[in-house]
Amino acid sequence: MSPRPNSLAAKDAAFHFHGYTNALKNEQEGGFIVTHGKGVFIYTEDGKEYMDGLSGLWCSSLGFGEEPRLVEAAVKQMRTLSFYHTFSNKTAGVVSELAEKLVNLAPVPMSKAYFCNSGSEANDTVIKMVRYYNNALGRPQKKKLISRVKAYHGVTVAAGSLTGLPVVHKDFDLPIAGVLHTDCPHHYRFGKPGETEEEFATRCAESLEKLILSEGPDTIAAMFAEPVMGAGGVIVPPKTYWEKIQAVLKKYDVLLVADEVICGFGRTGNFWGSQTFGMKPDIMTMAKQLSAGVLPIAAIMMNQRVYEVLRDNSAKNVVFGHGITYSGHPACAAVALETLNIYEERKIVDRVRALAPLFLKRLHSFADHPLVGECRGVGLVGAIELVKNKATHESFDPALAVGANLVRLAHDHGLIIRPVADSLAICPPLISTEAEIDSLFDRFGRALADTQAWLKQSGHLPVAA
Ligand SMILES: Cc1ncc(COP(=O)(O)O)c(C=O)c1O
Repeated sequence: MSPRPNSLAAKDAAFHFHGYTNALKNEQEGGFIVTHGKGVFIYTEDGKEYMDGLSGLWCSSLGFGEEPRLVEAAVKQMRTLSFYHTFSNKTAGVVSELAEKLVNLAPVPMSKAYFCNSGSEANDTVIKMVRYYNNALGRPQKKKLISRVKAYHGVTVAAGSLTGLPVVHKDFDLPIAGVLHTDCPHHYRFGKPGETEEEFATRCAESLEKLILSEGPDTIAAMFAEPVMGAGGVIVPPKTYWEKIQAVLKKYDVLLVADEVICGFGRTGNFWGSQTFGMKPDIMTMAKQLSAGVLPIAAIMMNQRVYEVLRDNSAKNVVFGHGITYSGHPACAAVALETLNIYEERKIVDRVRALAPLFLKRLHSFADHPLVGECRGVGLVGAIELVKNKATHESFDPALAVGANLVRLAHDHGLIIRPVADSLAICPPLISTEAEIDSLFDRFGRALADTQAWLKQSGHLPVAA
């Protein structure tokens, strides 16, 4: 269907090249134009209301357009000091306050915070910090980075290399050299028949150790990892996974970088995903819910051991030769600081813990459905994976795009969720009410029924299924 002439959708078709979009389809059909939002709902140019079951892109923790305090924080800051940078030890005071607040909130002792504008940029910056660290320590060969198959760490040249999704690499000449991908800890997909979660976790840790030994431990600098893998399909690690992985990293002096871009700020039922899974990172990256998605800001935190090496080397080199114009932008920092105040005042972690049992009960209630292979989740983030054959876990032919079709059918029921192949990712705003969580899964259930009907009609499922 082509867009209405003179609509914003038509302008979008004519002038806007989007990320993560089929550009030809956008040209033919026009953009999905969102005009405003309220609570967990967004509204489009054609007057439709949608519940956003992915918090925008896993970021709108406080919902859409209904947080006057964040607007006021930005406006107040822009009126007093609309811009200042962080080079040459200058900064807007609000950035120092935000750094203090974050360091005090850290799950393990952290020393300093560094600011960026996006998760990709934060992970990219950490890669440079890790190089700087090992060069300063006189071990220039210790540079290789380990990430995991299906990981998501961003899209820039280096962070995109850490990402373990083929679509991010294909035709972009990624990954760059020196980035290794170890096993994806998805028990349902990669566990062997009869293998327990614990046994699978042991196998993942053994495989990591084998990789480190085959490359040479003195060449491996760091492992980047999300506590729960988000954009790879909401993959909750198997029991004992982090304990076993961290023992291997420790043995070979490999830094652990926890990518808290999705998991941070309450999402998994603790303030940090690292706390939910007993991770003790040396470095952390965060973004998204740091500012409730209202303005772009990301951060890195590092422990004292890492910081001291960077500090001394920066003194030796006269400066730490890395910085970004808008890192620590005062308006973004003011919004992030106010977001953290709101999380504290509203006891957002308690709120997630109170809602999680209902969220997970409704999520797992689909387990018996003939199309559902696995329901997985923690806190307020989850996924439902569709399969062709429940007994064998056989997936549908990717050409059928079953997940993407379910997402399209969910639109007809006023619900936005995200397909990751045939897994449907669900990540509602943290301020959702019980009734909204129920409504989200009611809508999902209707879209799933429509998907089943479509598959039967098109001959891809036996009529009795
Ligand atoms: C875990 C994780 N890390 C990094 C990123 C990249 O963040 P950005 O899109 O802000 O560059 C994302 C984005 O979804 C993410 O989920």
